[in-house]
Amino acid sequence: MKSNNFYITTPIYYPSGNPHIGHAYSSIFADIFARFYRNNGYNVFFLTGTDEHGLKIQRSAEKENLAPLLYCNKISKVFMDLSKQLNLSNDDFIRTTEKRHYAAVNSLWNKLIKSGDIYLSKYKGWYSVSDEAYYDENEIFEKNGKKISTFSGSTVEWVEEESFFFKLSAWENKLLNFYEKNENFILPTSRRNEVINFVKSGLKDLSVSRTSFTWGIKVPNNDKHVIYVWLDALTNYLSALNYPDENHDLFKKFWPASVHIIGKDILRFHAIYWPAFLLAAGIEPPSRVFSHGWILSGAEKMSKSKGNILNPAELINIYGNDAVRYYLMKEVSHGSDGNISLKNLVNCINSDLANNYGNLCQRVFSFIKNNCNSKVTKSKNISIKDKDLIKETENLTKNLKKEMDKQNLNTYIKSVINISFLTNKYINDEEPWKLKKTDTEKMNNILHLALEQIAKISILLNPIIPNATSKVLSSLNIKENLRNLSFLDGNKVIPDDIVINDLNILFKKII
Ligand code: MSP
Repeated sequence: MKSNNFYITTPIYYPSGNPHIGHAYSSIFADIFARFYRNNGYNVFFLTGTDEHGLKIQRSAEKENLAPLLYCNKISKVFMDLSKQLNLSNDDFIRTTEKRHYAAVNSLWNKLIKSGDIYLSKYKGWYSVSDEAYYDENEIFEKNGKKISTFSGSTVEWVEEESFFFKLSAWENKLLNFYEKNENFILPTSRRNEVINFVKSGLKDLSVSRTSFTWGIKVPNNDKHVIYVWLDALTNYLSALNYPDENHDLFKKFWPASVHIIGKDILRFHAIYWPAFLLAAGIEPPSRVFSHGWILSGAEKMSKSKGNILNPAELINIYGNDAVRYYLMKEVSHGSDGNISLKNLVNCINSDLANNYGNLCQRVFSFIKNNCNSKVTKSKNISIKDKDLIKETENLTKNLKKEMDKQNLNTYIKSVINISFLTNKYINDEEPWKLKKTDTEKMNNILHLALEQIAKISILLNPIIPNATSKVLSSLNIKENLRNLSFLDGNKVIPDDIVINDLNILFKKII
């Protein structure tokens, strides 16, 4: 990571149909890190967008009887709207049909020609339009007379046409050296091993242009060819920073990218092709590619072609975006695949958000409002129970920054929700309501510590459930620029005398 600058991307989405919960998952995951680093003083650039060229899009447009660009305008807008519904904090939304992107792709192509890494020949082999990927004979099987990719399960077609090739085979050892030198380039480690084994098994030159359709960026000086959609799409990460103007502020500040968040199905493109293209063009590769698992429905990846889609916009309308964001991040272990269901969603909202965090905030805020005139004061007398809670919280928080630096969001969420659980337990055990007449100093102290815990938990949960936590932090009068992890270095989160504002119910229990 370059100093205090943090550049994070989602994959740019194929607008070849309506977005589903798998798309939402990649975006929310990236958004949480964008918010986390922003809250903690980094200059963040968070990019998302749409990947609009290639045969898949051309065919989707034909089905709707629309010119490809008109079709893309329509569906790209749906993804833009989704980013708002998901409460993404993206700084830009790039479309690969924009002028700025063409300039970047042309420049990268020319660099690869100049370096001698691209040559003209003929492609003969299998191609999946759905994955926009080439497959070898040994990656194909036959089912009901159809040829299918073992990797993705999508149907492949035989392609024979003139094509430019990228000399990927020449990059085998250089890539292996690169992975060795950059241990955390691919995370999680299981994915890194997968990629290394794949590269070790031998790389073939990659076809990087097509001549049998027209919807794409034309090869400079040879408009019979359009550039392979993955070479085109990956370049979006550069175009958004104004590449090829390498002196542009954005490029200087944010390249190389800190992390590309992607699903495991597109790992090969990001962890093999992308660094090879960049190294060949003399551009520094990104610092990391983090590959999350799939959301499954039954045993299968959720996708339009499989007809098992949960619509994220509908879920958000019913349950709210904080709840959907939290559930997806908590439930699906980020390295592996995870099943989701409405029943689990409801259970998760009820147990973690309504009964645990929501209830903690509600009970403490309303008790202070009704019994202390909305004001509490910390005393110097700290009890053993107070000390225990403070210590346990310290233990649970001390490694959280490190966990986040490796995208270990599951561990992070579990620790934070555990702090909320322990704080509820502390209140149950300490029973401040029994001290109203006998020991108001102790009662104040319990409530003050409870508020401090709520403040810490809300700061920690803010990147995940920004709406609810912002309400709590505003009711505690904590300014936006102070909603960070500086309490880990011993800084106070709330003043010793604190006046709180009213707080409405955050999460209703779903019956
Ligand atoms: N257009 C390419 C990305 C180009 S990036 C230079 C693409 N688009 S996609 O719309 O098909 O997928 C976008 C992202 O959503 C990918 O990271 C993919 O892994 C993710 N998901 C799509 N379905 C998914 C699930 N069912 N579960 C989790 N994520 C999955 O690929």
